[in-house]
Amino acid sequence: MEGNITDNNLIFETLVDYLSKNEVKHSIKPVYRTNDFVLYNEDSLEVMSRLPENYIDMIFADPPYMLSNNGFTCQNGRMVSVNKGLWDKSNGFDDDLFFHETWIKESKRILKPEGTIWISGTYHSIYQCGFLLQKLGYHLLNDIAWFKPNASPNLSCRYFTASHETILWARKDKNAKHFFNYELMKNGFFPEDNLKKPELQMRSVWSIPTPSAKEKEFGKHPTQKPISLLKRIIQASTKPGDIIFDPFNGSGTTGIAATLIGNRKYIGCDINPDYIELTIKRYEALKKGKGLFE
Ligand SMILES: C[S@@+](CC[C@H](N)C(=O)[O-])C[C@H]1O[C@@H](n2cnc3c(N)ncnc32)[C@H](O)[C@@H]1O
Repeated sequence: MEGNITDNNLIFETLVDYLSKNEVKHSIKPVYRTNDFVLYNEDSLEVMSRLPENYIDMIFADPPYMLSNNGFTCQNGRMVSVNKGLWDKSNGFDDDLFFHETWIKESKRILKPEGTIWISGTYHSIYQCGFLLQKLGYHLLNDIAWFKPNASPNLSCRYFTASHETILWARKDKNAKHFFNYELMKNGFFPEDNLKKPELQMRSVWSIPTPSAKEKEFGKHPTQKPISLLKRIIQASTKPGDIIFDPFNGSGTTGIAATLIGNRKYIGCDINPDYIELTIKRYEALKKGKGLFE
């Protein structure tokens, strides 16, 4: 195991240096870099196209939902727009499909043979992503239903209240030897989840509340994921020393969870500088032992 960690330290440094030196178009430099936490304020399609193949152990991707098309929802009893930002606007079925196909294809290229990918989404995007995983030759391992016990009510009262997101987990191909921490998932402590029974196998429905105000103390991201969700994903599918990549970093929850677990390398990418700034604030507070993250 120790050998693995040392190798990955080297791989991680080499990877980031490689992107900085690559002169094919322009050199891509991280806006933030420590020995285990690297952030790019770039279009992830550009960053991914420049990464060498077979380097990443695990990808967690929470791509745009393409749902910001002027609808309304309810938040704290108030009617608010569903719009998350321009990055979340649909460009029509074919363009959305093309966008997802581009990054899911690149993900397969940069993942190690035994690496896995997680894709999170709502019904607006997850079917396209699932279709593409199959089209591109991945092998689906699970579709997790992340149940939100504190989901906002439905305002129209004309259909059911949306209270879950789907998270797909896949390996590169059917014969790949992926990692799954079965023991920890069965016997670990998951106090946030009242569906998980002690010492019984972890099932594919996870009950986890949306992030508390405490998790948003350094600023808000409209689709921020709970840290306990990402901790579970990382603990289930990575080993010490592994390199994790998140092409849609947002508030950096994946990197924060990886840092909390420890012994993981994180590369995150987001086009929005405000979200990169928010991630740096969260990371530095965590490193200084400030802020209650759980
Ligand atoms: C659904 S959010 C991710 C939220 C994140 N999981 C969290 O916990 O905060 C998607 C993010 O992708 C970013 N984004 C959208 N298109 C992008 C692109 N082409 N390259 C990089 N980031 C992109 C948006 O700025 C947004 O922050």
